[in-house]
Amino acid sequence: MSKDFLSAIKNRRSYYALSNESPVPDDHIQEIIEQAVKYTPSAFNSQSARVLLLLGENHQKLWNITKDVLKAVVPDDSFGKTEQKINESFKSGYGTILFFEDKHTVRELQEKFELYAEKFPLWSEQSSGMLQFVIWTALELEGFGASLQHYNPLIDERVKKEWAVPEEWELVAQMPFGKPVSQPGEKEFKPIEERVKIFK
Ligand SMILES: Cc1cc2nc3c(=O)[nH]c(=O)nc-3n(C[C@H](O)[C@H](O)[C@H](O)COP(=O)(O)O)c2cc1C
Repeated sequence: MSKDFLSAIKNRRSYYALSNESPVPDDHIQEIIEQAVKYTPSAFNSQSARVLLLLGENHQKLWNITKDVLKAVVPDDSFGKTEQKINESFKSGYGTILFFEDKHTVRELQEKFELYAEKFPLWSEQSSGMLQFVIWTALELEGFGASLQHYNPLIDERVKKEWAVPEEWELVAQMPFGKPVSQPGEKEFKPIEERVKIFK
């Protein structure tokens, strides 16, 4: 890793213009995802996260499915814009990571620890968010650009069928990534003193 942890966090952005190139071999992308899934924390060490890495034709297929599904719900006169966004910002990239949470694992925890029953679904989502952030930042360190998308639950059924995803895996987010074609714009920040209070 060439940048330190905080610089990596600072440099992570959403990239919406991607090309279909990779700065690293596919097995390195696989290693990032496997390590992130293995070491990102989860409530009660439940390890409820599940991930699909879609590359090549599989990646293309996901965004074709998304366009198909959206065509049925987006008004005809605005579908052109939707299609263009999907083609240029997501499908044009190198791959997509699908984040799921295993509802069976969450239910088991709810049964085992009744006191926290209502918290487990929330903690499961929080843990998924941590994993998404780890992978997002790690990909950026390798020279990729990525963004975070939520076409679930619209695409859930088609995704499950296409990749034989177990029924209990619930789709949480999609992360298209690729070589950045343009840089993100300036980002505005609220004054940090309004958001962090120090008492010492
Ligand atoms: C929980 C969460 C959900 C998000 N959902 C979407 C989304 O559905 N589509 C999208 O384009 N960006 C989404 N984003 C990206 C944010 O809009 C983006 O991170 C934010 O504007 C800050 O910009 P940056 O990522 O360039 O730092 C999401 C981010 C988070 C943390």
